Amino acid sequence: MSEIVKGRILKINILRFDPNEPKILPHMETFEIEEAYGMTLYIVLNMIREHHDNSLMFDFVCRAGICGSCSMLVNGRPTLACRTLTSKLDENISLAPLPLFKLIKDLSIYTGEWMRYLNEHLETWIHDQEQELNVDKLEERMDPDLADEIYELDRCVECGCCVAGCGTIQMRPNFKGAVGLNKVARYHLDPRDKRTDEEYYELVGDDDGVFGCMTLLGCEDVCPKDLPLQSKIAYLRRMMIKTAIKN
Ligand code: SF4
Ligand code: F3S
Ligand code: FES
Repeated sequence: MSEIVKGRILKINILRFDPNEPKILPHMETFEIEEAYGMTLYIVLNMIREHHDNSLMFDFVCRAGICGSCSMLVNGRPTLACRTLTSKLDENISLAPLPLFKLIKDLSIYTGEWMRYLNEHLETWIHDQEQELNVDKLEERMDPDLADEIYELDRCVECGCCVAGCGTIQMRPNFKGAVGLNKVARYHLDPRDKRTDEEYYELVGDDDGVFGCMTLLGCEDVCPKDLPLQSKIAYLRRMMIKTAIKN
């Protein structure tokens, strides 16, 4: 449904739970909000907190799809609430926290712990292998097409939607997910990163890395930044197979 229906009353069903108060079991609460033109779920949730229940917890920072903090399940699908127009949805809307991440309360989750582990484990920074930092060194030129390709992958906002949308992670909790594999592909493309293929193989050449991906495609379906996750995972897989054959 794409056209706004004037005066629609939206029924927002929200999964409420506070892990600090486990005696109150998880339950759904419904709030009615009158729809307005151009309304997003960000606006809806703020209206609920302002006019109905100021204890409702959810996360937002940028309201523009940049910070990645407002990811949640909207009608069961992982997405960014600030980029979701109510006009695209039915009147009955269900909201729940993204699974797999640590729940803080209601719709608020802690993706930072997971992403930090991932970034530290995969060492997602340029390894130029220079011993000392030289601040006077001029930046090296990069082919503009390659720079664009790297920039495309750098648009990941670490929202966690691809993690929540991937069945493999349910079975393999240490699976690096599309977000991790995309980061590795990004650094492998970067000519300033001097890690060898063998070093990359050590990072993701196993079942918790690229060989654990079962090509379920949920990651690319739900990525709100439309990253080419599938082709980058395929690229990494080819690179890993070549490295394994070589050695
Ligand atoms: Fe979010 Fe897409 Fe990055 Fe996954 S790859 S964390 S879905 S922006
Ligand atoms: Fe998961 Fe995406 Fe692979 S959904 S199994 S990481 S293709
Ligand atoms: Fe930043 Fe939604 S509030 S992505």
